[in-house]
Amino acid sequence: MRGFSDRALDIQPTGVRKMFDMAGDDVISFGLGEPDFQPPAIAIEAMYQAMKDGHNKYTTTAGLPALRKKIAQSWDNVCPGLDESNVCMTMSGTNALLNIFATIVNPGKNVLLPEPYFPLYGPDVGLWGGEARFYECLFEDEFVPTVEHLESLVDDDTVAILYNFPSNPTGATISTSQRDELLQFAQKHDLWLITDEVYDRIVFDGDHVSFMGCDDERVILVNSFSKTFAMTGWRIGYILSANPEAMSQMTKLQYYITACSNDAMQHAVLAAFEQANDYPDEMCIEFKARRDLIGSRLNAMPGVQCHVPEGAFYVFPKVDVPGMTSEQIALELLKGGVLCSPGSAFGPSGEGHLRFAYTISREDISLGMDKTEAVLKGLRGE
Ligand SMILES: Cc1ncc(COP(=O)(O)O)c(C=O)c1O
Repeated sequence: MRGFSDRALDIQPTGVRKMFDMAGDDVISFGLGEPDFQPPAIAIEAMYQAMKDGHNKYTTTAGLPALRKKIAQSWDNVCPGLDESNVCMTMSGTNALLNIFATIVNPGKNVLLPEPYFPLYGPDVGLWGGEARFYECLFEDEFVPTVEHLESLVDDDTVAILYNFPSNPTGATISTSQRDELLQFAQKHDLWLITDEVYDRIVFDGDHVSFMGCDDERVILVNSFSKTFAMTGWRIGYILSANPEAMSQMTKLQYYITACSNDAMQHAVLAAFEQANDYPDEMCIEFKARRDLIGSRLNAMPGVQCHVPEGAFYVFPKVDVPGMTSEQIALELLKGGVLCSPGSAFGPSGEGHLRFAYTISREDISLGMDKTEAVLKGLRGE
């Protein structure tokens, strides 16, 4: 008899889209997790040229050797000695995550995931029969988990822990000493360490702190060009690991997921790497100015406390309106002309927070903050 898999039926649509579906065209939108820039012109031209040159075919599953080599070299400063065999191109970070969990999760096993979270992590683990076990990243701890808390969650069936710094939705980053503690936790329990570093090129005041190079056996990195080169719609990313067996298993599975990545697009990304590698640094100058603006505006509002994060393009302030949930507050803001995401869409510990993506102009941020302030004052009766 026809029917649907339990897997499909069990999975729920993400709460993040809910506000979008209700928003009119005239709202100021802090909703979108994608840069409001276009990809470097050189990448667009190279894509067109590659198609004209006949690069419209399957590539090897792992992708173009020249691009993979370039990617491997780009990690030389933290993990020297990598080559193309350590990289598998994917059709996005989303694709990379699905592949990794397919490769390492058996039914009945569990994976430790951050919360508040990028909403795909839990379902990605569940699809393969694994249990998503969430660890809290709290405002009080600058959104970095404590090892004591992680220790309370791990058991004999835990196979992996995923870290995401800079984080969506909090923008949190880690210091090298925090990184080392989190690494030691994974080593102590012999876990895979999956590190989602898709925002590695969007950091403001210091260098990006990576898990790459820390433990060749267990670290598997997810990355994407969506944010780095402002090409969210292109769908291209990669998996990187110094562990040859992990690479071989994941590359084998990638064949069954997409066969390979897009031929012309890989040429275009290679051109961007070679000729526009400072492109994300230019975006960062603007993002940093916006971060400073939105951080100072939010911190001056009644009932709002906001960390000013070091990475990504989100702020995740605590917003207190007595008697109201984050979803109710977000709905009131929407009525007042501002679209943002309720913290609860990113997991229970996101309750009491709102996520603002500062992927709009400074003028619009100022206007949106005026409206936010007016709505919050009204709700708080001030
Ligand atoms: C933390 C994080 N990981 C992974 C992704 C996936 O990015 P993409 O599928 O566009 O490569 C996103 C996208 O927003 C993200 O925020």
